[in-house]
Amino acid sequence: MKPSTVLYKDASVPVEIRIDDLLSRMTTHEKVMQLNQYTLGNNNNENNVGEVAGELPAELGSVIYYNDNPDLRNAYQRRCMEESRLGIPCIFGYDMIHGFRTIYPISLGQACSWNVPLVERMTSYAAAEGRMSGVDWTFSPMIDVARDPRWGRVSEGYGEDPYANAAFCAATVRGYQGKSLADSTTIAACLKHYVAYGASEAGRDYVYTEVSPQTLWDTYLPPYKAGVDAGALTLMSSFNDISGIPGSANYYTLTEILKNRWKHKGFVVSDWGSIEQLVNQGNAADKKEAGLRAFNSGLEMDMMSHAYDKYLEELIDEGKVDSVLLDESVRRVLRVKMLLGLFEKPYTGNHPDRFMRPDALSAARQLAAESMVLLKNDSTGILPLDGVGRIAVIGPVAKSSASLQGSWNGRGVYDETVTLYQGILDRFAPEAEIRFAKGSDLDKTTEVELAQAVDTACWADVVILCLGEERRWSGENASRSTIALPEAQLQLAEKIAATGKPVVMLLSSGRPLDLSQMEPLANAIIEVWQPGTAGGAAAADILSGDVNPSGKLAMTFPRSTGQIPIYYNRRGSARRHQGFYQDIPSTPLYPFGHGLSYTTFVYGEPSVSSSTFRKGEKVTVTVPVTNTGLRAGAEAVLWFISDPAASITRPLMELKHFEKRELKPGETTTFKFVIDPMKHLSFPDADGNIILEPGDFKIIVGPHTVNLVME
Ligand code: GLC
Repeated sequence: MKPSTVLYKDASVPVEIRIDDLLSRMTTHEKVMQLNQYTLGNNNNENNVGEVAGELPAELGSVIYYNDNPDLRNAYQRRCMEESRLGIPCIFGYDMIHGFRTIYPISLGQACSWNVPLVERMTSYAAAEGRMSGVDWTFSPMIDVARDPRWGRVSEGYGEDPYANAAFCAATVRGYQGKSLADSTTIAACLKHYVAYGASEAGRDYVYTEVSPQTLWDTYLPPYKAGVDAGALTLMSSFNDISGIPGSANYYTLTEILKNRWKHKGFVVSDWGSIEQLVNQGNAADKKEAGLRAFNSGLEMDMMSHAYDKYLEELIDEGKVDSVLLDESVRRVLRVKMLLGLFEKPYTGNHPDRFMRPDALSAARQLAAESMVLLKNDSTGILPLDGVGRIAVIGPVAKSSASLQGSWNGRGVYDETVTLYQGILDRFAPEAEIRFAKGSDLDKTTEVELAQAVDTACWADVVILCLGEERRWSGENASRSTIALPEAQLQLAEKIAATGKPVVMLLSSGRPLDLSQMEPLANAIIEVWQPGTAGGAAAADILSGDVNPSGKLAMTFPRSTGQIPIYYNRRGSARRHQGFYQDIPSTPLYPFGHGLSYTTFVYGEPSVSSSTFRKGEKVTVTVPVTNTGLRAGAEAVLWFISDPAASITRPLMELKHFEKRELKPGETTTFKFVIDPMKHLSFPDADGNIILEPGDFKIIVGPHTVNLVME
């Protein structure tokens, strides 16, 4: 006789029927508890210190899991399954932003690789490490379009362009969620921070964001739509006040757009304390009102405000919260748990070999190398290094593993990081002799240190000067009033340049930097970002030419902090030849899309299937690209559209397609962009209605512009 399985525990029954059955059995208290997230394990996030519940209730919906071993999870999960009345499994979330134990480049660096398939593959490896460690759900991808590098969180997203953020968002959702969420190697994704957090005023964190409805639809919502379309099961509401209505109490974004228009079937979790913080923002008189506003706006789960567990039942009793909305919210959470297979497999198995697997490490090294951007390589042609006898590795970042891991480095172990120095040693010694001098700390130096560095430089044939940021200078709660490096590092660079030795500058940072004073002091400059576990090895791959650099900037490098905001897809000025700065050029130091190679690529004349077409017709534009150099290399071809005259002004150019391919020396290959007018030439109005207007359009690819007319 088969043991009687209650309906909601029967995996052969359709999920919605199971949820109906379970909801019918739940008390109001049990429903409310599903909408709360506490913490479990050792919270090492210094920005979020919250009360650690002594004894976690067995009816709790979710925890943030600060551990990389499943034992603690399984022990608590067993309480949820066996001590609660209905045995509803808990869902364990965690910030796996660019890796779990194997750490990959920060997302801003990943975007510069323009290698979507590689990012998707790397994300699947990260998901496997996390799921096999007890994490079912990651608070990633972060897809906040950002144009102010004073904001430390530019490191976490995919740069200044909506389309790039959308493309990498969809790739990470596919990577995390895979083909089946019930697999022991996939996890639920979480699109964050919904929405427009990247518009943080003056690059400060947690502050007001002035976002017009038009800009909300033009710039900030597209990556979220791409993530929802890719099947992302969850989102995280943002801290920021969106022009008067904070992201965590915004009915228009959380319900009207996400649920009513986009038909999202998962749930939204708040950011840490963002419900309670509505009081600070002046949107609620107290935590109870904050809970009311947040819940009725469509925010399902409360991360650590303790507003829902404390007040939701009261609000229901007072008739201020509708029990229908309560059931719908709980349904969404239960749906995700069932899709993850948590009712059938609530516990995590034992996988001792889950970390740093060869395929993960190989992807980490490849993605790190492809994320690095060769910003400068002057006529001395110092790179790639070839047959050098004496190499001086100098600078405060040379032996730093923390800098290379960056912020949100998950369960990364610093000692497992290949530093820049170690990578150079492994690749170039013993053929080359390597010497090290720190020369300065990140933000101070001494005459003795400078003198030692100068001596070491004078001894060498070439200097690799490793400068940049400390890992906590970017990421959350890490705004900086200037994007120039500290004076001490400039002083070191000047001293080294004065020796007259060839200098290759490696920069490790979580944001674009003001390099105006640094640029003249080096023959070559590579932005290595925060490249993760294999960072030093990847840097050596680039320095040696084993890998030809292919990175292109996904975020503009301004000439100075004073130019911010400066980004490529801005609207046109009323006067094309006026309105410039009087004291510096008004162009960036390195524009969006900039990145050099050790070979050269020539873009031939584009061809177009028809330069005149009607709304319903597609147009194909192709361009031949030739590797005219002597070295194989990969080229990311970026395709932009321009709509020079529209009823709502459009950016001067907008990225709408990109593709990256490896070309052998002398090889010519044809890149193609199939233009679907409704997808590529339309734009939203201030309420998201799609507009497609006939008229002139331009397609921009490399140095070429193709004129099209839509009738
Ligand atoms: C933080 C961050 C968010 C993160 C969450 C949980 O405050 O804003 O990105 O996922 O809290 O750690």
